[in-house]
Order: sequence, then C-alpha cells, then structure tokens
Amino acid sequence: MTAFAVGDAIDAVYVVAVLVFILGLQAMSAPSTARRGIVYAGVAMLLAVIATFFSPHLTNFALIAVGVIVGGLGGWYWARVVKMTAMPQMVAVFNGMGAGAAAAIAAVELLGHLPDRATAGLSLAGGVIGSISIAASLVAFSKLQGWLPSRPIVLPARQVVNSAVLVVGVGVGLYAVVAVSTAWLLPFFVLLLLYGLLLALPIGGADMPVVISLTNALTGVAVGLDGFALVNGPLGDAGYAMVIAGVLVGSAGSLLTVLMAKAMNRSISNVFFGAFGSAPETGGPVAGQLKEIGASDVAALLAYANQVIIAPGYGMAVAQAQQKVKELADLLEAKGVPVKFAIHPVAGRMPGHMNVLLAEVGVSYDKLFDRDEINAEFANTDVVLVIGANDVVNPAAHRQGSALFGMPILDVEGAKNVIVNKRGQGKGFAGIENELFYRDNCHLLYGDAQKAIGDVVSELKKTS
Ligand code: TAP
Repeated sequence: MTAFAVGDAIDAVYVVAVLVFILGLQAMSAPSTARRGIVYAGVAMLLAVIATFFSPHLTNFALIAVGVIVGGLGGWYWARVVKMTAMPQMVAVFNGMGAGAAAAIAAVELLGHLPDRATAGLSLAGGVIGSISIAASLVAFSKLQGWLPSRPIVLPARQVVNSAVLVVGVGVGLYAVVAVSTAWLLPFFVLLLLYGLLLALPIGGADMPVVISLTNALTGVAVGLDGFALVNGPLGDAGYAMVIAGVLVGSAGSLLTVLMAKAMNRSISNVFFGAFGSAPETGGPVAGQLKEIGASDVAALLAYANQVIIAPGYGMAVAQAQQKVKELADLLEAKGVPVKFAIHPVAGRMPGHMNVLLAEVGVSYDKLFDRDEINAEFANTDVVLVIGANDVVNPAAHRQGSALFGMPILDVEGAKNVIVNKRGQGKGFAGIENELFYRDNCHLLYGDAQKAIGDVVSELKKTS
C-alpha cells in the first residue's frame, strides 16, 4: 500500500472510532445499556490507538508501545481491584492522567513550534486548561482518598491570590509566545499547576464529584485544543481524531457537571468558589427523640405493608449491602408486598451510584423511580426503608439557614412509617444533623447495612 493509501485507511478507522464513541455515549445515557456503552467506548479507543501505530510519520514507536503497555496494564489492574466506593477517586486520578497527557502534548508543541503563532497559541490554551485540570484532579483524588483533609482548606485572601496566580501565569505564557522564548514556558506551567491546586483546595470532599466531572470536561477541551495544534503537523489526522474526541468529552462532561450541580441545587460557581461546608451550621438542636427498632419488628411492619419503598444511599454502597437488599425486595414481593426503589440523583458519591449497585445484583429497572416520579407516593406508603441514606432524605433542605437548603430531597417523612438503617450517630456528607431521625414516625435500625438487612431477611423468612 502506498503512504497515501495507508493514510486513507487510517482516516477511515478514525471515522469508525468516532462513530463508535458516539454510539457508546448514547448507550451510556440509560442504566440498562450503560455497560454496553462502556464497551463501545473502549473498543473505539483501541481502534484509534491501533490505527495511529500504522501512521507512516510515527516516530519513537518502541517508547510509545512501552507507554501503552504500562498504562494499559496499570489501568486494567486498578479497575479490577478498585472497590465500588473508591470509584470516584479512581476516576479522578485517571482523569488527571488524561489532563497530564494533554498538558505534556501542549508542552512538546510549544517547545517545537514556538515561532508558529497559531500552533503556539492553541498549545498555550491546551496547556492552561490541561495544567489546571491535572492539579485539580490530583487534589480531588487526595481529598477522597483521605490524603488531604476533606474539609475546605481556605487560605487568606484566596480569591485575590488565586486570580493573581492565574493572570500572571497566562501572562507569562503569552510573553513566551510573543518573545519566542522557551525559558518562560517552565514558569508558565508551574503557575498554572499552582492555580489548579489553589482552585481545588477550598472545595469540600462532598463537592469533589462535581470537580471531577468539570475537570473531565476541561481535559476534553485541552485535548481538543491540542488536536487543533497537531492538525498541521505530520500526525495531522490524529489531530482531527483528538479534536472530535475532545469535543465529545468536553460536552458530555459539561452536561454531567450541570446535572450534578442542579441535583444538589447549587450553582457551579458556588461549588468552586463558595467553600461549601466551611461555615458552621445554623438551626440549633433538633427537637424529639431517637427511637430504636429491632429486625423482627421491622420484618413485621414490612410483611403487612400495602407498599414498601426502599431509599438507598451511600451507606448501602459502603456496606456492599445491595445483594441483601435485593433478597429482601424479592422476599416481600413473593409475599405480595409491592416494592419500589426511590433513587435520588446524588445518593452515594457518584452519578448513577445506586443504579449501578442495584443493576449489579439484578434489580429490574422498572422498579427504580427517580425523585420526581416517586415523591408524591410516600404519603400513601406504609413503610419507607432508608438504607444508609442521610442528606438526600434530610428535611432540613426545606428550611432556610440550613447548608442543605434548596436541595431537592426524597420526602420520605410523609410515609406512615420510616425505618432508617445506619450504624450509629454518623452524619451525612454535608455534616449536618438529620431532623427526619427525630420525627414521631421514624425508627432507627442500627447496624452495618449488610448485617442489619440480612437480619430483617432472616426474620421475614420466619413470618408465614
Ligand atoms: P450521606 O449523606 O453521605 O449519608 C450516608 C449515611 O450512611 C450516613 O448517615 C452513615 O451513618 C450511613 N452509613 C455509612 N456506612 C454505613 C454502613 N456500613 N451501613 C449502614 N449505614 C452506613 O449519603 P446520601 O444520603 O447518599 O447522600 C449523598 C451525599 O453526597 C449528598 O450530600 C450529596 O450531595 C453528596 N454528593 C453526592 C454526589 C453524587 S454524584 N452522588 C456528588 C457530590 C456530592 P452512620 O455513620 O451512622 O452509619
């Protein structure tokens, strides 16, 4: 095959890869097809990488192959051993690597093509966004992993200092391009990395998934800009593929960020600049008493209910109790008690967390209802079983002055009986008291969710 024909074949593979990426994204929009979507996206990436290896202009073949093998094996191993609850920090660090790669491509382009204003300008923009994104992703990882305190770390005069670092960093980069001086590139990258750190440190752990989603979108934009810079070079066609992939990641990540912020009733600027969680909670002590209930009483209540709604949250994920929860739901249905699941969009620690766990154990999708679909039903339900959820069922969200004020919640308190399973007096991620637990119709089933729900299942089996 001539070089021209090889180039055409590579282009054709890139087009196929892009189409498969789009199909993958489409499949990811519904829980029932999400797994297929992930497979499509993986296949598309594999196609694009293999096609690039055939490029006649590719140099450093062996070094790239080593990078692909080390990265591929590392990613495969980590993804296999990671616990479901540690998934957000894994996504953060993988995203950070993408951002780092984008920043590195920008650095190489800047070093090689500084006199070419168009390429240098695009690479500079890619470098700004990639550097901020990698630094913020690493802070997100460290906070979620417990290497850094989860609370907002608020430095004095942070808005002024942060803005100054950003302005000086971008200014230094522009000067490097205008003066065609590579000496200014290192300070440029250092300042932008510093800005990424300063941007993410004042954000509390609870908001980290939003940060991860936005940095993921930013990484997509950085990759797209790098792609534009590469288009005129010897690997030009790979540049087009990068532009399209970057745009897809950038737009999907931006939409996800907006959806998550909406579900928490927060603006994106409040998430990034509000230092949420650093102010003390107002409202004073909650009136009422905590009332404990045992597994056998819970089983009796459930067995004679007109309907049971299960509201799962982060604690179900921590306890890996989804299998027991499914067993409980099946048992109740076998006894003629209809069971539904109320899924809050930000229950857990990542988008779709509850959907994924319940899908894993085979809970049918038609039993899952989102907040808007099910909120009106609580009032006509005998028993709501809250399993390891806290903030997403906290009625304080309806009260002005609460840190949760305005967050749309599952209004479970309207049910005849509310049973809450949790281990003790732990608060939710927002760190505030839950008024629901003190309501007259609410009882607490203490214990790790897997054990506690297992006990209820055993008791239920004893009832005729
Ligand atoms: P949380 O408010 O975090 O509450 C979890 C509850 O589970 C705690 O009350 C804890 O109490 C209990 N728990 C922990 N381990 C348990 C175990 N092994 N067995 C039984 N219970 C256990 O959870 P949520 O209601 O799902 O709310 C999610 C929070 O994360 C919200 O504030 C949301 O805004 C935030 N967030 C979520 C996302 C996404 S995308 N999901 C993104 C950003 C922020 P004990 O310690 O007493 O057991």
